[in-house]
Amino acid sequence: MAPISIKRILISESVDPCCKKILQENGIQVTEKQNMSKDDLIAEIKDYDGLVVRSATKVTADVINATGNLQIIGRAGTGVDNVDVDAATKKGIIVMNSFNLTHKAITVAWSTPVFIVLMISQFMGAEMYGKILGIVGLGRIGKEVATRMQSFGMKTIGYDPITPPEVTATWGVDQMSLEQLWPQCDYITVHTPLMPSTAGLLNDTSFAKCKKGVKVVNCARGGIIDEDALLRALESGQCGGAGLDVFVEEPPKNRALVNHPNVISCPHLGASTKEAQARCGQDIALQIVDMVMGKGLVGA
Ligand code: NAD
Ligand code: MLT
Repeated sequence: MAPISIKRILISESVDPCCKKILQENGIQVTEKQNMSKDDLIAEIKDYDGLVVRSATKVTADVINATGNLQIIGRAGTGVDNVDVDAATKKGIIVMNSFNLTHKAITVAWSTPVFIVLMISQFMGAEMYGKILGIVGLGRIGKEVATRMQSFGMKTIGYDPITPPEVTATWGVDQMSLEQLWPQCDYITVHTPLMPSTAGLLNDTSFAKCKKGVKVVNCARGGIIDEDALLRALESGQCGGAGLDVFVEEPPKNRALVNHPNVISCPHLGASTKEAQARCGQDIALQIVDMVMGKGLVGA
């Protein structure tokens, strides 16, 4: 790939300091500005060749169309769902994320057991031993969740349209259709990207097929569990508890779900360990430096 000239980069969120350091060591001028409104970002972005974001910055078509010489949008994290990739592609802007997400998977995989333990830590608890956990999405994080929960004696079942059943069987997950999975689970955790086929995966119809009192965890993306359906299920007792790290709107303005007594929530902290953030910040910086040097591009 031909080298690309990147002289100025805007980091619009709290990204590990190693990202800035690596970029600066490679002759790139870095500006860090956090908590910008959309209008602030639109006014600011025209002066930069590159933009580095995490989850909070919404890189919409309006933002992309306000850019002047932007060449690259780097996301220090999993997926690129807060970036309008079509709008960027039309402007010839490369969009990439951190390629090595192993640390992130290890970090996020801890959120599920923490939520489950918190949901059962009442004056009278419940054993995890022997309970059935349904894992929807058996990629990097789904796999790490499965092995952790098995260590508590949980039986792990799951569904993934791409990861083959013979592969998940080697890490102790029995795959089956969602129709077969819903009625068996004591707990359900989702680890898919948010896309049309996963939006509202758990909805009124699927909750109705679950065991009464099923407990659910969403550390993936807001909207995979339909929030209105979840609230109805919590109110009727069909759902016995929810652990939520992510919301359709972040921070959530509709407080009914967050304030529900059977909901434990976090403000999108699933990937927030020093190790995972350092790795993501380092990777995205090195990937941008590779691009400047004309080396091949990678992403995940
Ligand atoms: P991954 O790509 O390794 O795994 C995703 C899996 O979902 C894949 O195996 C894919 O086949 C499966 N999938 C796709 N469509 C599906 C469907 N309809 N039903 C069931 N499975 C389906 O991604 P990952 O690294 O494991 O991350 C999973 C998700 O976790 C990410 O997409 C992201 O949304 C979320 N995440 C959240 C945080 C956080 O801070 N809370 C951090 C990192 C990632
Ligand atoms: C995510 O994919 O949800 C992010 O990586 C979270 C983060 O930026 O910490």
